[in-house]
Amino acid sequence: MRRNIVAGNWKMYKNLEQTRELVNRLKTNLDVDLKGTSVIVCPPFTSLSLASTLLQGSEIQLGAQNMHQEEEGAFTGEISAGMLIAAGCRYVILGHSERRQYFKETNELINTKAKKAIAAGLKPIICVGELLEEREKGITEQVVAAQIRGVLNGFTQSDLESTIIAYEPVWAIGTGKTATPDQAQAVHQFIRKIVGQSHTWALAERLVIQYGGSVKPDNAAELFAQPDIDGGLVGGACLKADSFTQIVKCAIS
Ligand code: 13P
Repeated sequence: MRRNIVAGNWKMYKNLEQTRELVNRLKTNLDVDLKGTSVIVCPPFTSLSLASTLLQGSEIQLGAQNMHQEEEGAFTGEISAGMLIAAGCRYVILGHSERRQYFKETNELINTKAKKAIAAGLKPIICVGELLEEREKGITEQVVAAQIRGVLNGFTQSDLESTIIAYEPVWAIGTGKTATPDQAQAVHQFIRKIVGQSHTWALAERLVIQYGGSVKPDNAAELFAQPDIDGGLVGGACLKADSFTQIVKCAIS
C-alpha cells in the first residue's frame, strides 16, 4: 500500500534564525504517531545543516530544492548530491516549474540530475505540470506525458522505486487557484498509467505521486482523499508551522 508523503518546499525563504524557529515548532507539533506518513522539509541550502541538527531524534526528514548533476568540479555556485547527503538530506526536489521557467531546466537535464541523485542515495521528488495556456488548449495530458517520459527516460525498476513524482499544475502554484480534486485525480491517474506503460503496472501502483499547487489546510483533506493522490508538495502554506501541521494531519490516515 502506498503511504502519503507531505513535503514543504520553503523556496527562497527563511534565514537561520527563522529556520530554527520553524523547525522547532514543527518538531513539537508533529511529535505524534505519523502512521507511516512521511514528512519532509526542504529549506534553502544555507539552512540544511542547521535543520539536520535540529531534526535529530525527530521523524521529520530533510530534503533540498535542487542539486547539480556533477559530483564536484569548477561549477561556481552549485551543490552536489554528495554534499546534500553529507548535510543530512535524503530527498531532493528536481525540475520544479520555477527551475524550468527561470533557470531553463529541461526534461533531459532533470533526468540526468535524477539519475545522479539516486546513484548518490537521494530520493528525487520530480516535478511535472502544465501551464495555464496548455490546459486551456486541452493538451495537459500530452504535456505531462512528455515530461514524465523525459524525466524518467532510462530509469531502471530500482531507480523508479526510489522516485517520487509531484504533479504541480503551474497555474496553481502560488496563485491560490488549486486544481479541483477531480482535476488533480485525473492527471495523477494518467501519470500512473504512463508509468505503467513505460515500466510495469506493479511499479506504477507503488509510485508515490504528490499534488502541489496552493495546497492549504482547508483543501488538503479532499485532495489527499483522492485514490491516486499520495500527499502533497506544499509551498506557501509550509512556511507557517501551524498551517503545515494541519496539512500533514490531513495526510495521516
Ligand atoms: P504553493 O503551495 O505556494 O502554491 O507552491 C507550490 C509549490 O510550488 C511547491 O513546490
